Parts: sequence; structure tokens; C-alpha cells
Amino acid sequence: MLNKIRDLVEKTKIELDKIIDLSDLNEIRVKIFGKTGELTNLSKGMRDVPVEDKPKIGAALNEARKSIEEKIKTIEEKFEAAILAKKLEKEKVDITQPSKGIEMGALHPISSVIDKLTDICVSMGFSVVEGPEVESDYYNFEAMNIPKNHPSRDMQDSFFIDENIVLRSQTSAVQAREMEVRKPPFKIVCPGKTYRNESDSTHSPIFHQFEGLVVDENVSMADLKSMLTIMMRRLFGQDTEIRFRPSFFPFTEPSIEVDVSCPNCHGKGCSTCKGTGMLELLGAGIVNPKVLEINGIDSKKYSGFAFGFGLDRTAMILNSISNIRYMYRNDIRFLKQMK
Ligand code: DAH
Repeated sequence: MLNKIRDLVEKTKIELDKIIDLSDLNEIRVKIFGKTGELTNLSKGMRDVPVEDKPKIGAALNEARKSIEEKIKTIEEKFEAAILAKKLEKEKVDITQPSKGIEMGALHPISSVIDKLTDICVSMGFSVVEGPEVESDYYNFEAMNIPKNHPSRDMQDSFFIDENIVLRSQTSAVQAREMEVRKPPFKIVCPGKTYRNESDSTHSPIFHQFEGLVVDENVSMADLKSMLTIMMRRLFGQDTEIRFRPSFFPFTEPSIEVDVSCPNCHGKGCSTCKGTGMLELLGAGIVNPKVLEINGIDSKKYSGFAFGFGLDRTAMILNSISNIRYMYRNDIRFLKQMK
């Protein structure tokens, strides 16, 4: 028995020295220690060993197991070290190589204007809201005091989906939605996409507006003018001149249009402002009491002011963009210049 044990240990160690793969190691492990493995079988033979020899044979069996296990462990560690060394060699990084440079993204000019204006308005206490781009005729027109078949609809060449559904032609639609659900006093702004059948170097069928609405007691034209002056100066610079001109919109009475001095030439006249020194930027006015009433607000107690301006034009002015289409082409060369 002792000889058999010794032979087994020797034979196994020779086999272990020859292996070239971790899977061979497992095979040997099963062959020796498995249910019907060679050492297992020898251990089963203990039954037939005379009592007086049992301690000696038992110790020899234990010793054999220990020495084979140790050898297996050593070989296993050798293989693992080799695998790790290979992996490290493969994943080696040459830290002395020059870097490829970091590609920096940039905000789209319209997103950037929306962010700036939103920040300005939030700091003045406005809440930011949104509304649907596919809008009902009611919110887009009727609730804004533009009845069906009324000539004032001609101001906006709109995309109708059916008789009552339209791609919103103005963010003013959101004014009606908000008046319906809010209780005065409130101040909201709404940036968003709008759609009209127009296309040339300064008009695109899809464009962006920024709407504002304030409803409270005793809201006046003076409040509107001072608020717009602060907003425009924060956006275009403190030296910006503001001009208010009388205008017409069905939802405001009186209505005004607001021009700012050209931030490019500071009023002297250049190609951006077509030599006029001023840029027409937004429509505004005192909310027509009829609009308050249509939308469930008591016009005897409350008044309001509203404004809506073109973000595309603003983005073009701030970034000296000559054609509105550049902003919708997704040309990476254009966007890279917006950093
Ligand atoms: N909705 C108008 C347009 O698209 C712009 C406008 C004018 C909005 C006056 C207003 C306003 O809120 O008070 O032409």
C-alpha cells in the first residue's frame, strides 16, 4: 500500500510537470481526487488495512493528498501569472504618446438663446411652461381673440392638419392654456417651436418663439416697458437702446412692437440691421380684456401684459448668422463654430 501511494504521487507529479494548459490540470485533478479517482480509490482500500497499520497508511494518504494539492496549486499560480502578464502586455498604454485632443460639444444657437432668456426671466420670478406643438384651432386662434374666418388670421399662414387642428403658429396658444388653469397673479414664459408657411433667408417653416404673460392687478404699459428693457439689456448688453412702436395684435390692446439697437454696430447701421441701426424683435402689449374674459379671468379686477419674440432672429443676431437655414441643416461645420 505504501508503495502504491508513493508511486501514485511520483507518477502524478511527472504528469503535472508536463501539462501545458489549465484544462489539463483539471483533468488530472479529477483523475486523482474525483469520485473514482486514483487517490480516492486508494483511500477506500483503508477498509482492508490491518488496524495496526492504519495510522501509518492514513498519514501517508494524507501526506500524498497534501503534496499533490500543493503541486497543483503551484502550477495553477504559474499559469495565472502567465495569463496576467500576457493581458498586461496586450493592454499596455504608451503614456508618452501625444493626445488626440478633446472634442468639445456646443449648444445649438437657438438652445443657447432659450437658456439665456429663460435664466433672465426665472431670475425675474417667471415660471417656465410648455405647450403642445400640434394645437387646436381654439387655443391657437379663437381663445386669443382670432375668430374663425376673421381677416386677422391672414397675419399667420398656418399649417392646418384638419379644420380644427393646426401646427401652432404662435406660442401665444400657451397663454390661453395657462389662463384657463391658473389663478392670478401669475407670470409665465414659454419657449417653443412654431410653424408657418414661410421660407426665405430670414424665415423658416419651423421657427422658435418665446412667449411671456403676466396677469395681476393694476398691470400697466409702464410695467411692460420696464421689464422688456431690463430683459433686452441683459441679453444684448447694458448700452442697448430700446424703441417701442404702436402696432396691432388681436390679443393685445394697445399693442406695441419692440426694436433694439443693433448689437453689431450699436445703432450706426450695418449689414445685420440693413443700415437702419435698429432690429425689430418682438411683439407685445396689454392683454386685451376680451382675451382675459374668454379664458375665465375677471377683466375688471385683473389686467396683464404679454410679449412674444422670435428666437431664430435673436440667435442669428447674437451669432452673426446670415441665413436662417444654416440653423436647421445640422451641418457639423456650422455647429462647430458655435463654441
Ligand atoms: N404671437 C405674435 C406673433 O407670432 C407675437 C406676439 C405679439 C405675442 C404680441 C404676444 C403679444 O404675446 O402680446 O406674431
